[in-house]
Amino acid sequence: MTQDGETTMSDSVPEPSATTSTAIIETDALGKRYGNIIALADVTTSVRPGQVTCVLGDNGAGKSTFIKILAGAHEHSDGRLTVDGVERHFASPREALALGIATVYQDLAVVPLMPVWRNFFLGSEPTKGWGPLRRMDVDFMRRTTKSELAAMGIDLRDVDQPIGTLSGGERQCVAIARAVYFGARVLILDEPTAALGVKQSGVVLRYIARARDRGLGVVFITHNPHHAYPVGDRFMLLRRGRSMGDFPKSEISLHELTARMAGGTELEALSHELAAELGSDSEVAKTLESEVKELRT
Ligand SMILES: Nc1ncnc2c1ncn2[C@@H]1O[C@H](COP(=O)(O)OP(=O)(O)OP(=O)(O)O)[C@@H](O)[C@H]1O
Ligand SMILES: [Mg+2]
Repeated sequence: MTQDGETTMSDSVPEPSATTSTAIIETDALGKRYGNIIALADVTTSVRPGQVTCVLGDNGAGKSTFIKILAGAHEHSDGRLTVDGVERHFASPREALALGIATVYQDLAVVPLMPVWRNFFLGSEPTKGWGPLRRMDVDFMRRTTKSELAAMGIDLRDVDQPIGTLSGGERQCVAIARAVYFGARVLILDEPTAALGVKQSGVVLRYIARARDRGLGVVFITHNPHHAYPVGDRFMLLRRGRSMGDFPKSEISLHELTARMAGGTELEALSHELAAELGSDSEVAKTLESEVKELRT
């Protein structure tokens, strides 16, 4: 696909017909510069209640930069960011959180040796009693953690076990359930499946779908189109800090998404280069050539 083709497609996307609900977050030509480094440019997409917006891109594509702007950790330097139709410039994560935008970072900030329920309420512990008798309401925390996890379909044997003993996938799920409980309307997940095996990734994808079904707008960052496609409603592609388009699911197939992610043109150039270097019947060049062919079909 030519550069022109890509531009035309992304231009045709923001049709209201493709979506029914009003957006919670909208970005219009959003960008971020660090000095004269352009980390992000021209990102136009939306996050809607009950929908999953996937942000796809390779290492250094600008995915984290994008969500840091949504989460209030970095201020954008170009374009517009609106939440519920109001233009915003977040100066801190607190401001984003106050509007119901919660972020689960990949290096989940948990205290591994503390029980699951303690981590669930970390920083927002409910108390009971007054004055010198005031203390944490441990019973409430235990009960609530158990019931909230159950409501998300997470069946933990024991909420008293240290959170460090849970699998990576389970920990992601606890973080998702926690954000839902504390009233998030938008849930941002930075590569929640990156470090997980096939089965655990499946579990996390299921909870992403659950959060979506509960009406949250989910922003799902990943570099894996096979993780994004089954749960995504909208796909925004980043390459070297630039948006390569924003597509509702009806306008892009898994095959096309994969091809665009892989950067068909770049692969082709690499395959020619290798063929010239190693001879066109070398194994490596042949494999690559057939991969390029497959991407093109
Ligand atoms: N504070 C900063 N100062 C200067 N450049 C930065 C800063 N933060 C990010 N960048 C640059 O912006 C670009 C995008 O980085 P970003 O972390 O958003 O990518 P990413 O898509 O999240 O990558 P990864 O998949 O590796 O997490 C990179 O080239 C990076 O070097
Ligand atoms: Mg990142």
